[in-house]
Amino acid sequence: MELNTIYNENCLETMKLMNDNFIDMVITSPPYDDLRDYNGYKFPFEKIANELYRILKIGGVIIWVVGDKTENGSETLTSFKQAIYFKEIGFNVHDTMLYYKNNPMPTTGNRYHQHFEYMFVFSKNTPKTFNPITEITKYQGLANMKNRGKEGSLDYKKVERTTEKKVGNVFSYSIGGGISTKDKIAYKHPAIFPEKLVADQINTWSNKGDLIYDPFMGSGTNLFCN
Ligand SMILES: C[S@@+](CC[C@H](N)C(=O)[O-])C[C@H]1O[C@@H](n2cnc3c(N)ncnc32)[C@H](O)[C@@H]1O
Repeated sequence: MELNTIYNENCLETMKLMNDNFIDMVITSPPYDDLRDYNGYKFPFEKIANELYRILKIGGVIIWVVGDKTENGSETLTSFKQAIYFKEIGFNVHDTMLYYKNNPMPTTGNRYHQHFEYMFVFSKNTPKTFNPITEITKYQGLANMKNRGKEGSLDYKKVERTTEKKVGNVFSYSIGGGISTKDKIAYKHPAIFPEKLVADQINTWSNKGDLIYDPFMGSGTNLFCN
């Protein structure tokens, strides 16, 4: 198969061309329930999940960005059904991260505005790469660390605090025209990733030279992130 190429076809056809243990990382967002009709594309979830397991390298990671439809007043929980299926076929559910939208589309009705989507981190065994994004700690220098002793007494110990710590597992992005992507054509797609989200996840879970695959590429935001 050709690398760095867009295969404009059903991803099951593309994955047929891949050997077992071929891909280092997958970052993708599948169709959410039947919220949108994507030109008649079918979404046989279980077949696709099985193929993803086959083509991913040991230690490889899938970032699965997904949300649920509300039907007859209830969320479908399709996201969680999918996560459970991934676990049943052998994936490790390494983390359930959130993609938090600073400025979501406002909604009416008796629910709070929908601010987030799930970003499941599925791994084939333990992730082989983790380059965490870090931030400067608020407090630095020596600090008293409290520890409960066996009898419940409080022991104090002087410790040097680090100046950097890894960030939390909720990633926040502003979205919309000119923000998610500068590409005007990509923005015509109804469900694009913010390019920064893709860059943050790729930088975290892969190294230079790794092979990354998006089976549901849509507008192709994965190609533009850097
Ligand atoms: C939620 S969107 C993903 C959008 C993408 N992350 C982006 O930034 O543009 C899902 C996409 O998967 C495509 N799709 C649905 N079923 C597919 C299939 N079986 N194989 C390949 N693509 C599929 C749809 O056409 C749609 O563009």
